[in-house]
Amino acid sequence: MDKFIIKGGKRLHGEVVISGAKNAAVAIIPAVAMAESPCRIENVPNISDVKLSARILTEMGATVRWLGKNTVEIDPTTIHTNVVPSELGRKMRGSYYNIGALLGRCSKAIVPLPGGCDFGVRPIDQHIKGFKALGCTYSLNDGMIEVSAKELRGAHIYLDMVTVGATMNIILAAVKAKGLTVIENAAREPHVVDLANFLNSMGANISGAGTDVIKIRGVEHLKGITYSIIPDQIEAGTYMAAAAATRGDVLVKNVTPKHLESITAKLMEMGVTVVEYDDAVRVRCDGPLSKCNVKTMPHPGFPTDMQPQIAALLSIAQGTSILNESVWENRFRYVEELKRMGAQITVEGKSAIIEGVEYLKGAPVRATDLRAGAAMIIAGLAAHGVTKIEDIEHIQRGYEDIVEKFVGLGADMYLMLDPTNSDTAKIG
Ligand code: EPU
Repeated sequence: MDKFIIKGGKRLHGEVVISGAKNAAVAIIPAVAMAESPCRIENVPNISDVKLSARILTEMGATVRWLGKNTVEIDPTTIHTNVVPSELGRKMRGSYYNIGALLGRCSKAIVPLPGGCDFGVRPIDQHIKGFKALGCTYSLNDGMIEVSAKELRGAHIYLDMVTVGATMNIILAAVKAKGLTVIENAAREPHVVDLANFLNSMGANISGAGTDVIKIRGVEHLKGITYSIIPDQIEAGTYMAAAAATRGDVLVKNVTPKHLESITAKLMEMGVTVVEYDDAVRVRCDGPLSKCNVKTMPHPGFPTDMQPQIAALLSIAQGTSILNESVWENRFRYVEELKRMGAQITVEGKSAIIEGVEYLKGAPVRATDLRAGAAMIIAGLAAHGVTKIEDIEHIQRGYEDIVEKFVGLGADMYLMLDPTNSDTAKIG
């Protein structure tokens, strides 16, 4: 099993460049299937979930060419099927965006039930509700979702809860539907806006993305374009938290500071200095961290995808903090791992009560999911002694060059390859 080995205690300093947003890329790549000519996508994060999204299109007949580490050219005109290969689609959450995109392309999609991080039940009832409102029939056969329509027609859709996935999937399905679609109680995350901007550049007519009412007027044609994906808000937040945890001084570059406001606000409440520039933030921490209460919320609230990382930070802050998770049913599985390092955390329902300790101690831990893994790295960087993190494939799904970037900031960290792991050769 591959591992990350971290010797903690090094103060992070210097500059780190943030990659493109994973959760935008995993929707934009499937969306290319609707274009009538090739698209070139730039600032694509080179991570396994994104490579998987591209591989799904390749398997479906698209011509996919990587023009460099972060640029991909996709010719969707050669796609010859509306079936997403089961073994690939099951490996990631974002594969469900192929439903919306294939509906837009050819009014029919057969896509496996998606995988992704385990936070308890992850229903897709709101996606299905949206597709049905647009005129689709739905069935589930042998783990494959089948959605089709004779003709997609615009509809008024009220989402029962704020969901990023359903908002983006319905946008995709509605882009070429006849007439007007209105999504109420829509998600406002930066990647929702990025998907809408991408589709509008192709010729779609979407307004209101970034607010809770999105209007989509169906168009007949979408053309291939060149598009650059926005910076990853959560990758940026992770480096900001790591800088604070190690009492570091880090310039986090290629970010949109506006997307980071909730994270910046909480770090400042903890006593960290954050200076915003046009496309960078500098995070400096000299003294001790103070306790702080955090509640995760849909954007513009504090992102659930930063919840484990902030928990790592709060576990070495002075005082007792309360961390409340309001998006996912069960996103505290990593707490047991942090406790191995000496963190004092009690989970009560959807809240974690964190009693700050003076320091964490290195220990063997697991990355129970992607952001949990990021939290283990932050904890390991700040801890006394050596931390060995297992199950790092979760981390590699979402963070480009994470070892190189932390080493560039002065961390004592390396990837220990397991020679018996044949998958390792394929990553990279
Ligand atoms: N929900 C439903 N029904 C649905 C859809 C969602 O009940 O049909 C519920 C979920 O169970 C959850 C809440 O609504 O309680 C929000 O779910 P959402 O649909 O927003 O999540 P998602 O689209 O499955 C994306 C990100 C997650 C991120 C969430 C919330 C991708 C591929 N994943 O998931 O990212 O946590 O939005 O912001 O975009 C990560 O990057 O680490 C990650 C897990």
